[in-house]
Amino acid sequence: MKLAIIIISTTILFSLGYADFQIPANKVIPVQFNNLKNPVESNPKNIASGAKIYKKLCWTCHGDNGNGKGPGAAELSNKPADLNQKIIKERTDGALFWWINEGGNDMQPFKDVLSKQEIWQSVIYIRKIQSN
Ligand code: HEC
Repeated sequence: MKLAIIIISTTILFSLGYADFQIPANKVIPVQFNNLKNPVESNPKNIASGAKIYKKLCWTCHGDNGNGKGPGAAELSNKPADLNQKIIKERTDGALFWWINEGGNDMQPFKDVLSKQEIWQSVIYIRKIQSN
Protein backbone atom coordinates (compact mmCIF):
# COMPACT_ATOMS: atom_id res chain seq x y z
CA MET A 1 0.00 0.00 0.00
CA LYS A 2 2.77 2.41 0.99
CA LEU A 3 4.60 1.51 -2.21
CA ALA A 4 1.52 2.28 -4.27
CA ILE A 5 1.26 5.72 -2.67
CA ILE A 6 4.93 6.44 -3.40
CA ILE A 7 4.56 5.33 -7.01
CA ILE A 8 1.40 7.39 -7.52
CA SER A 9 2.81 10.53 -5.92
CA THR A 10 6.08 10.23 -7.85
CA THR A 11 4.10 9.88 -11.07
CA ILE A 12 2.06 12.98 -10.22
CA LEU A 13 5.21 14.96 -9.39
CA PHE A 14 6.81 13.99 -12.67
CA SER A 15 3.72 14.84 -14.67
CA LEU A 16 3.60 18.27 -13.02
CA GLY A 17 7.23 18.79 -13.94
CA TYR A 18 8.37 19.32 -10.34
CA ALA A 19 10.62 16.33 -10.16
CA ASP A 20 13.11 17.68 -12.68
CA PHE A 21 13.08 21.40 -11.93
CA GLN A 22 16.77 21.18 -11.06
CA ILE A 23 19.34 18.93 -12.61
CA PRO A 24 21.57 17.26 -10.03
CA ALA A 25 25.26 17.03 -10.85
CA ASN A 26 25.02 13.25 -10.77
CA LYS A 27 22.09 13.11 -13.19
CA VAL A 28 22.46 10.26 -15.64
CA ILE A 29 23.31 11.47 -19.13
CA PRO A 30 20.63 10.22 -21.55
CA VAL A 31 22.06 7.53 -23.78
CA GLN A 32 20.85 9.17 -27.00
CA PHE A 33 22.98 12.23 -26.18
CA ASN A 34 25.90 10.19 -24.98
CA ASN A 35 26.22 8.61 -28.43
CA LEU A 36 26.00 11.87 -30.43
CA LYS A 37 28.99 12.70 -32.61
CA ASN A 38 30.12 16.32 -32.78
CA PRO A 39 28.87 17.48 -36.21
CA VAL A 40 31.06 20.60 -36.06
CA GLU A 41 34.61 20.22 -37.33
CA SER A 42 37.48 20.88 -34.93
CA ASN A 43 39.44 23.45 -36.93
CA PRO A 44 41.13 26.75 -35.94
CA LYS A 45 38.01 28.78 -36.80
CA ASN A 46 35.69 26.71 -34.61
CA ILE A 47 38.24 26.53 -31.79
CA ALA A 48 38.50 30.35 -31.89
CA SER A 49 34.69 30.70 -31.79
CA GLY A 50 34.56 28.26 -28.85
CA ALA A 51 37.26 30.25 -27.06
CA LYS A 52 35.26 33.45 -27.50
CA ILE A 53 32.10 31.84 -26.06
CA TYR A 54 34.12 30.38 -23.18
CA LYS A 55 35.63 33.78 -22.28
CA LYS A 56 32.26 35.45 -22.34
CA LEU A 57 30.02 32.85 -20.67
CA CYS A 58 32.08 30.17 -18.92
CA TRP A 59 35.33 31.70 -17.71
CA THR A 60 33.82 33.49 -14.68
CA CYS A 61 33.21 30.09 -13.10
CA HIS A 62 35.44 27.60 -14.90
CA GLY A 63 38.49 29.87 -14.95
CA ASP A 64 41.71 29.93 -16.98
CA ASN A 65 42.23 26.73 -18.95
CA GLY A 66 39.12 25.25 -17.32
CA ASN A 67 40.77 24.96 -13.88
CA GLY A 68 37.49 25.67 -12.05
CA LYS A 69 38.93 28.70 -10.25
CA GLY A 70 37.19 31.59 -11.96
CA PRO A 71 36.29 34.69 -9.86
CA GLY A 72 32.61 33.65 -9.73
CA ALA A 73 33.44 30.22 -8.28
CA ALA A 74 33.83 31.30 -4.64
CA GLU A 75 30.18 32.16 -4.05
CA LEU A 76 28.78 28.91 -5.47
CA SER A 77 27.80 26.04 -3.18
CA ASN A 78 28.74 23.54 -5.90
CA LYS A 79 32.31 23.93 -7.13
CA PRO A 80 32.55 24.49 -10.88
CA ALA A 81 34.04 21.43 -12.49
CA ASP A 82 37.74 21.49 -13.33
CA LEU A 83 37.27 20.66 -16.99
CA ASN A 84 40.61 18.82 -17.06
CA GLN A 85 39.44 16.14 -14.63
CA LYS A 86 39.77 12.58 -15.85
CA ILE A 87 36.03 11.97 -15.58
CA ILE A 88 35.24 14.92 -17.87
CA LYS A 89 38.02 14.02 -20.31
CA GLU A 90 36.46 10.59 -20.56
CA ARG A 91 32.95 11.86 -21.25
CA THR A 92 31.77 11.72 -24.84
CA ASP A 93 31.32 14.93 -26.85
CA GLY A 94 27.58 14.20 -26.79
CA ALA A 95 27.60 14.06 -22.99
CA LEU A 96 29.28 17.48 -22.75
CA PHE A 97 26.87 18.85 -25.36
CA TRP A 98 23.96 17.62 -23.22
CA TRP A 99 25.46 19.08 -20.07
CA ILE A 100 25.97 22.54 -21.55
CA ASN A 101 22.41 22.45 -22.92
CA GLU A 102 20.86 21.46 -19.60
CA GLY A 103 23.19 22.94 -16.99
CA GLY A 104 23.81 21.61 -13.49
CA ASN A 105 22.95 22.63 -9.93
CA ASP A 106 24.89 25.87 -10.03
CA MET A 107 25.28 26.10 -13.77
CA GLN A 108 22.48 27.55 -15.86
CA PRO A 109 21.20 25.73 -18.96
CA PHE A 110 22.61 27.29 -22.11
CA LYS A 111 20.15 25.88 -24.63
CA ASP A 112 18.23 29.16 -24.82
CA VAL A 113 21.40 31.28 -24.84
CA LEU A 114 23.59 29.54 -27.40
CA SER A 115 22.79 27.89 -30.73
CA LYS A 116 23.50 24.18 -31.17
CA GLN A 117 26.48 25.14 -33.34
CA GLU A 118 27.84 27.38 -30.56
CA ILE A 119 27.41 24.64 -27.95
CA TRP A 120 29.34 22.20 -30.15
CA GLN A 121 32.04 24.87 -30.60
CA SER A 122 32.26 25.12 -26.78
CA VAL A 123 32.75 21.34 -26.65
CA ILE A 124 35.55 21.65 -29.23
CA TYR A 125 37.20 24.36 -27.13
CA ILE A 126 36.97 22.22 -23.97
CA ARG A 127 38.71 19.39 -25.88
CA LYS A 128 41.40 21.87 -26.94
CA ILE A 129 41.96 22.96 -23.30
CA GLN A 130 42.12 19.32 -22.21
CA SER A 131 44.76 18.51 -24.82
CA ASN A 132 47.15 21.25 -23.57
C1 HEC B 1 27.78 30.21 -12.66
C2 HEC B 1 28.95 29.39 -12.83
C3 HEC B 1 29.08 28.57 -14.12
C4 HEC B 1 29.09 29.03 -15.42
C5 HEC B 1 28.92 30.47 -15.90
C6 HEC B 1 29.32 27.87 -16.25
N1 HEC B 1 29.44 26.74 -15.48
FE1 HEC B 1 29.85 24.84 -16.12
N2 HEC B 1 29.72 24.15 -14.23
C7 HEC B 1 29.48 24.92 -13.10
C8 HEC B 1 29.37 24.07 -11.94
C9 HEC B 1 29.11 24.54 -10.50
C10 HEC B 1 29.56 22.74 -12.39
C11 HEC B 1 29.51 21.47 -11.52
C12 HEC B 1 28.15 20.85 -11.52
C13 HEC B 1 27.05 21.65 -10.86
O1 HEC B 1 26.51 22.56 -11.47
O2 HEC B 1 26.75 21.36 -9.72
C14 HEC B 1 29.79 22.84 -13.83
C15 HEC B 1 30.06 21.76 -14.65
C16 HEC B 1 30.38 21.84 -16.01
C17 HEC B 1 30.79 20.74 -16.84
C18 HEC B 1 31.03 19.33 -16.35
C19 HEC B 1 29.90 18.40 -16.58
C20 HEC B 1 30.34 17.00 -16.31
O3 HEC B 1 30.65 16.32 -17.29
O4 HEC B 1 30.36 16.57 -15.14
C21 HEC B 1 31.01 21.23 -18.10
C22 HEC B 1 31.46 20.47 -19.31
C23 HEC B 1 30.71 22.64 -18.05
N3 HEC B 1 30.34 22.98 -16.76
C24 HEC B 1 30.82 23.50 -19.13
C25 HEC B 1 30.47 24.85 -19.11
C26 HEC B 1 30.48 25.69 -20.28
C27 HEC B 1 30.90 25.29 -21.67
C28 HEC B 1 30.06 26.93 -19.86
C29 HEC B 1 29.83 28.16 -20.69
C30 HEC B 1 29.00 28.04 -21.87
C31 HEC B 1 29.81 26.85 -18.43
N4 HEC B 1 30.07 25.57 -18.02
C32 HEC B 1 29.41 27.91 -17.64
C33 HEC B 1 29.37 26.30 -13.06
C34 HEC B 1 29.30 27.14 -14.17
